[in-house]
Amino acid sequence: PVIFAITPTYSRPVQKAELTRLANTFLHVPNLHWIVVEDSKNTSTLVSHLLQSTGLNYTHLHVETPLKFKFTGGKKRNPPRGTLQRNLALQCHPGVVYFADDDNTYSLQLFEEMRFTTKVSVWPVAFVGGLPYESPKVNSSGKVYGWRVLLDPHRPFAINMAGFAVNLKLILTKPQARFKLTGVKAGYQESSLLKDLVSLSDLEPKASNCTKVLVWHTRTQTPILRKNITELADLIGEI
Ligand code: UGA
Ligand code: MN
Repeated sequence: PVIFAITPTYSRPVQKAELTRLANTFLHVPNLHWIVVEDSKNTSTLVSHLLQSTGLNYTHLHVETPLKFKFTGGKKRNPPRGTLQRNLALQCHPGVVYFADDDNTYSLQLFEEMRFTTKVSVWPVAFVGGLPYESPKVNSSGKVYGWRVLLDPHRPFAINMAGFAVNLKLILTKPQARFKLTGVKAGYQESSLLKDLVSLSDLEPKASNCTKVLVWHTRTQTPILRKNITELADLIGEI
């Protein structure tokens, strides 16, 4: 089966670096189609050129998050990021879909684990919710029965976006299952989609019954810049 990796992305100084690293990972994954959805009014030439140069199979889309839903810094973490971008990409073809944020770190084995997903497969994710890794709890018969997390363990699906993959057949039969921009508390974005698709007993644990870390929720430090990229282009030519 083909894997559709859906990546919401937005313009910032590290964007090209993030997407370059992600492309380098995906180049090692057979039968993967990359759906890159820019959070912008138009597709940018930066992302267009980058995608063309990778030689990957890809679809390049864009949808802008309305300003009032934009994260503006500070302590407040709501509203969620990448929501409309992920939804746009869900209107696609049969295969397995994975929501691959542009800043995480993905092992190659992860993609082979998720490739054979009947409904929804799950696995641990490192560096989220104040733990070295969060994980689904799996019993001796290989069924998920809860969540090894610190943050709000009573969420229906206490799992990070990077911790699951969905067979698109399921999405196509449930067109109401989408990410929501409003009415979703921080940390409930994943639950709000998954509860419309499956129940706990449907989950397919991967990564040796969720005992291995194959994806890391890394975050890139924002570089401190004394000149912006356009000023620099004027100084030393095209970047
Ligand atoms: C955590 C989760 O891992 C994300 O899956 C979730 O979307 C996010 O929280 C959230 O708060 O909604 P985090 O590392 O805090 O992730 O978020 P980012 O990596 O900054 O953003 C997630 C994705 O959305 C990235 O691919 C990013 O490029 C994209 N994004 C971010 C946009 O498309 N637009 C934005 O304005 C911000
Ligand atoms: Mn991130």
